[in-house]
Amino acid sequence: MTRVRFVSADGGRIQEIEAPAGERLLDIGQLHGQPLEGTCEGQMACSTCHVIVAPEDFARLPRASEEEEDLLDLAAHVTRTSRLSCQIWLTDDLETLTVRIPGGAHNMQGR
Ligand code: FES
Repeated sequence: MTRVRFVSADGGRIQEIEAPAGERLLDIGQLHGQPLEGTCEGQMACSTCHVIVAPEDFARLPRASEEEEDLLDLAAHVTRTSRLSCQIWLTDDLETLTVRIPGGAHNMQGR
């Protein structure tokens, strides 16, 4: 199990979710109403699934592929610890994972 923590773009809201290994971060976020569009459904063609990973967690994730890096270059509000959530799979080694929604993402729940 991984304890995933989603932080809203303004830092004001935190949602904690327990998710099993093998799940994809994008799917977990969408399932719980996080504003991750994921328009291309993980085909690495959109970058609307962009999240900003907490630095301490970023270092523990497998490195991004070159394809992912290229796509992130095109995303808005990119930081040094940005990743595409469709490319992050939870593992048993990953006990916690904190990610922030980039600024400018709109909330699909309209709140
Ligand atoms: Fe399109 Fe991740 S869902 S790049």
